[in-house]
Amino acid sequence: MLLKWVAFVWQEPPVKRPPERLQAGDFHTAEAMLGSGHMSTTPPQVKPVTPVIGAEICGLDLDDVSDSDFRLVHDALMEHCVIFFRDQDISIESQKELGARFGELVAHPNDPGVDGHPEVMPIHADENSRRVAGEQWHSDVSCDPLPPMGSILRLHTVPETGGDTLFANMYAAYEALSERMRAFLDGLTAVHDGGPYYRETNRIIGRDDGGRSYPSAEHPVVRTHPVTGRRALFVNPMFTQYIVGLPPAESRGVLTLLYEHVARPDFQCRFRWRRNSIAFWDNRCAQHHAIWDYWPATRSGYRVTIRGEAPV
Ligand code: SIN
Repeated sequence: MLLKWVAFVWQEPPVKRPPERLQAGDFHTAEAMLGSGHMSTTPPQVKPVTPVIGAEICGLDLDDVSDSDFRLVHDALMEHCVIFFRDQDISIESQKELGARFGELVAHPNDPGVDGHPEVMPIHADENSRRVAGEQWHSDVSCDPLPPMGSILRLHTVPETGGDTLFANMYAAYEALSERMRAFLDGLTAVHDGGPYYRETNRIIGRDDGGRSYPSAEHPVVRTHPVTGRRALFVNPMFTQYIVGLPPAESRGVLTLLYEHVARPDFQCRFRWRRNSIAFWDNRCAQHHAIWDYWPATRSGYRVTIRGEAPV
């Protein structure tokens, strides 16, 4: 009993520890800590969401992005394909500024932008909606000859539950294919066309598109990421029409196989939105899928889209 009491009241004297040493993986954190002009006491941190895709960046205010913050965000995006931020009550201007650090912002080919900001696409669904944006696996506007490198979505209104977005890693999808299948796909191209999807969208919501034409382009089925040099699958059911040089039945069969493969859960993460969360995805190596399971609730925000390069 006495022993128990002694063990209870006796506390280890404080141990003097050496200052924490930086590990190789801490590099960006340290860089941001030294270079950032922020007064934040905790340095920004990159926390992977799964081992395969996605990371949350904590301790950054996207209203005020220093050069070292930018480097941290850029490197995390390259490494994790999609990055997430919480509690970013930022203006449309700040969201545009962040996007513009990565490249030229582009207007959407079918959706008119917000008043005075043609490059800002409203993402909105409520009880009157007949469809929502992105409700199947896709890479944004892959039908464009220069498809977007990235998209930044901030939601200011979220349903109590539901409205998650799925993201899938297209490097992992490519790398998980057999060597024979990879060899078969390497060097093939596919035609992507915005017409069928955008015209169907307009029909559902009763919008007259005035007979306008939509972008279409031929892209490699497997592309090489211009920054990481890694190979990624680049076909999706929203825009890809057929694989060039294959008979229609073979093209359909191969695309169906690839779409089933891309939807494998082990390539994915699922983002649970909160008010003022931001997701920033790299369209060159990730696909995403918005889930509309929250009708009649409202989910609303803004997306900016950054022009990319011709896929090779
Ligand atoms: C989109 O495809 O940009 C929409 C994504 C979402 O609403 O989660």
